[in-house]
Amino acid sequence: MEKTSPENSPQAEKKKSTWVRKVFIVLVILFLALQLYPVDRKNPEVVADLIAPDDVKSILRRACYDCHSNETKWLWYSYIAPVSILIERDVRLGRERLNFSEWGDDYDEEDTPEMFLDECWESIETGEMPLWFYLPPHPEAVLTEKDLNILRTWCGADELEDEDEDESEVEKEHDHNDHGNKKEKKSEDED
Ligand code: HEC
Repeated sequence: MEKTSPENSPQAEKKKSTWVRKVFIVLVILFLALQLYPVDRKNPEVVADLIAPDDVKSILRRACYDCHSNETKWLWYSYIAPVSILIERDVRLGRERLNFSEWGDDYDEEDTPEMFLDECWESIETGEMPLWFYLPPHPEAVLTEKDLNILRTWCGADELEDEDEDESEVEKEHDHNDHGNKKEKKSEDED
């Protein structure tokens, strides 16, 4: 061990280590103090849960219910600040915007697919939901192609897509409904 330069002297080393220790203690105190920040992890009563076929329901439970229902699973890290504070915020905002546990207050069972199409489908199709940072700790919430097809068919989004594609043909069909077999040829000519 060299003791020539003053920075390497035992006294300097000692000073440095007490300084590091002080910073560490302050950080620990801040961390502990942050745990006192009140976080509301209550799950209100399920008033009128969304009614949907089992396959649809299990997808939504997997991918959306932690933030958009009154059945949030509060995992261990939701008890540790600052993560807990961020999670509580997402659940609060998520429920305010859309709550599957109170869905039936506003809509009947038979209206549900259409309301889902109006309110939710776009956020799923564009990949906006589920929120990206939710996915790494919840790989089960990643929506597969199969999941997307189930939701698309249930809410009727696939019919909309077909309609868009068929629109020109449908128009022709109305105009020339007496020669159906010429329909395709005609639309090709006119396009
Ligand atoms: C990690 C929590 C979380 C998950 C999981 C989640 N959301 Fe959200 N969602 C939110 C939050 C927070 C908002 C409110 C965003 C805002 O107001 O800026 C929101 C907003 C929305 C909105 C409103 C969008 C808008 O533009 O205002 C819809 C619709 C929605 N979510 C649907 C879903 C669906 C469907 C799923 C499941 C496939 C899902 N969310 C999963 C947290 C989540």
